[in-house]
Amino acid sequence: MKPAHIAIIMDGNGRWARARGLPRSAGHRAGVEALRRTVRAAGETGIRWLTIYAFSSENWSRPKSEVSDLMGLLRLFIRRDLAELHQNGVRVRIVGSREGLEPDIAALLVEAESLTAGNTNMNLVVAFNYGSRDEILRAARAVAMEAKAGRLDPEKMTMEDFAARLDTVGMPDPDLIIRTSGEQRLSNFLLWQAAYAEFVFLPCHWPEFGPSELAAAIRLFEERDRRFGSIAQEAVS
Ligand code: IPE
Ligand code: IPE
Ligand code: MG
Repeated sequence: MKPAHIAIIMDGNGRWARARGLPRSAGHRAGVEALRRTVRAAGETGIRWLTIYAFSSENWSRPKSEVSDLMGLLRLFIRRDLAELHQNGVRVRIVGSREGLEPDIAALLVEAESLTAGNTNMNLVVAFNYGSRDEILRAARAVAMEAKAGRLDPEKMTMEDFAARLDTVGMPDPDLIIRTSGEQRLSNFLLWQAAYAEFVFLPCHWPEFGPSELAAAIRLFEERDRRFGSIAQEAVS
C-alpha cells in the first residue's frame, strides 16, 4: 500500500553546490526546484500528506548570510508558488515555533494557511523553525498550564490529549520518512510522530531529488513489513 503521509528531510543542498564549485546559496535555490517537482509528483501519485523539513530550530546557528538566503527563498516560494498550490487544491500547514520570526514571514505563513484552509486534494505541511524537542516541550507546557488551571486531570491524560497539543494536531503520523544526502539521522524531526515510521535514506543530494527518486522510495516502503509491535498477518496460527 502507498504511504498516506510522506515526510522528507531535504538535505545536501550545500554539498551538492560545493561539488559543483557553486556557493551554498545556489544549492538552496536548486533545492527549491526539487521541492516544486516533488510536490507535483506527490500530488500526481495520490499522496495525501507531504511534510517537508524546510528550516530547523537549530539552523539559526548557520552564518547570518545563509540564514537570510534561506528566509529569502521561503518568501519567494510562498509568493511564487502559493497560487499554483491553491489552484491544485493543496492545503498548506506550517509546523514549528512562530516566536521570533520576522513579521513579514509570520504574515506570509498565516496567509498560506488561511488562503488554502478549505482545500482537500492534498496537504503540504512545511516544518519551518521546527524542532521536535521544542514542539514537545511547548506541548508539555500547555498541558501543565491546563492542569494547573484545573481544566485537565493529569491522572486521566491520554496520548491523544498530549498529541492534541503538538503542532501536528489533526495530522496522521508519517508512514514514510525520506532523508537525502546519505545522512542517517532525524536531526530533531518529528520525534513523537515517527514512532512507527519507515525510513528510507537515499545517497542523492536534495537538488537531485525528483519524481523517480520519490517513486523509488515508495517502492522500498511497499516492500516493508509493518508490524506495529504485533506479528505479521501470515504468522498468525
Ligand atoms: C538542506 O541542505 C537545507 C537546509 C538544512 C535548510 P543543507 O544546507 O543542510 O546542505 P548540507 O547538508 O550542508 O550539504
Ligand atoms: C536537517 O538538516 C534540517 C533540514 C533539512 C531543514 P541539517 O543539515 O540541518 O541537519 P544536520 O545538522 O546535518 O543534522
Ligand atoms: Mg545538511
